Amino acid sequence: MTRGRHLPVPLLTAAVLAGCGDRQSVLNPKGPFALELTQLSWLLFGVGIAVLMIVMAATAGALWGSDRMRARLASVRAVVWAGVVFPVVTLTGLLTYGVVLTRAAAVAPDADPSALHISVFGEQWWWRVTYEREAGTITAANEIRIPTGRPVLFKLTSPDVIHSFWVPNLGGKVDMIPGRTTLLRLQADAPGIYRGQCAEYCGGPHALMAFEVVVLAQAEFETWLDLQAKPAAEPASEAAQRGHDLFLASGCGACHAVRGTPAAGTIGPDLTHLGSRRSVGVDTLPLTEANIRRFIHDGQRIKPGNLMPQFRIFAQADLDAIATYLAGLR
Ligand code: CUA
Repeated sequence: MTRGRHLPVPLLTAAVLAGCGDRQSVLNPKGPFALELTQLSWLLFGVGIAVLMIVMAATAGALWGSDRMRARLASVRAVVWAGVVFPVVTLTGLLTYGVVLTRAAAVAPDADPSALHISVFGEQWWWRVTYEREAGTITAANEIRIPTGRPVLFKLTSPDVIHSFWVPNLGGKVDMIPGRTTLLRLQADAPGIYRGQCAEYCGGPHALMAFEVVVLAQAEFETWLDLQAKPAAEPASEAAQRGHDLFLASGCGACHAVRGTPAAGTIGPDLTHLGSRRSVGVDTLPLTEANIRRFIHDGQRIKPGNLMPQFRIFAQADLDAIATYLAGLR
């Protein structure tokens, strides 16, 4: 018999929860809006437990109590107070508290002049991300970077079907609805990396429609955003140059944009700074040259149903060159 079988239930539960990790968890709030939601959740949970205990006690009294207790529980007075007044007062109180608390996160676009504005488009099955700056917008994809200590106003929409934007550590979940823009305010208090997930079934590889939110110190964020605003780096080696030429000659630019080159497609993710991201294939593989190669050659195995066909037309050396080029787009 293993020792694990003797673990008490609370310990087992804690082990299971710890196994979920804390970079995608509503129980590990990392910003003011997430903290409010966590507090609300614990309050609802606590009140729910209290009500359950009261109901269980009343049930026990009705089953096994004295005749006097049973008569009291069956009286009109008990039914009116416990069955009408108590639920109305409790539920009204909780609803009011919840509405007031969550109103802070849902605001008008201009309510907070210090907020950073980021538009996110939920696409089948990836994320188009644009950062708004006075000098213009900067397009990126599949990874969101934000500064610490500054509210971020997300403007969310979708060109195809309903998706839902959710970063549990940072705040609530908001649907991305075609033809509408929904707003969500998030804020992170400290640098870190959190995982977000599309939380509305959107067909095919919905479950693999995840992303990371990388929270950087303010200055580091500005440096990163300056880099993202620039056109793509020139190929740094002969192999990268060959990869660049093959990328353009093979028609990759019909779907993908690499700013500064003739590739200007908008169907798929912008690849201008692909090499500076942490993942390839929308958070399915860590970003390495080998994984870029794998995704081009075997993308339907890695992310079944994604809209990019597998490109098995390349000789190994050519595929290597394209991967070298793309990984170098930092
Ligand atoms: Cu997008 Cu589910």
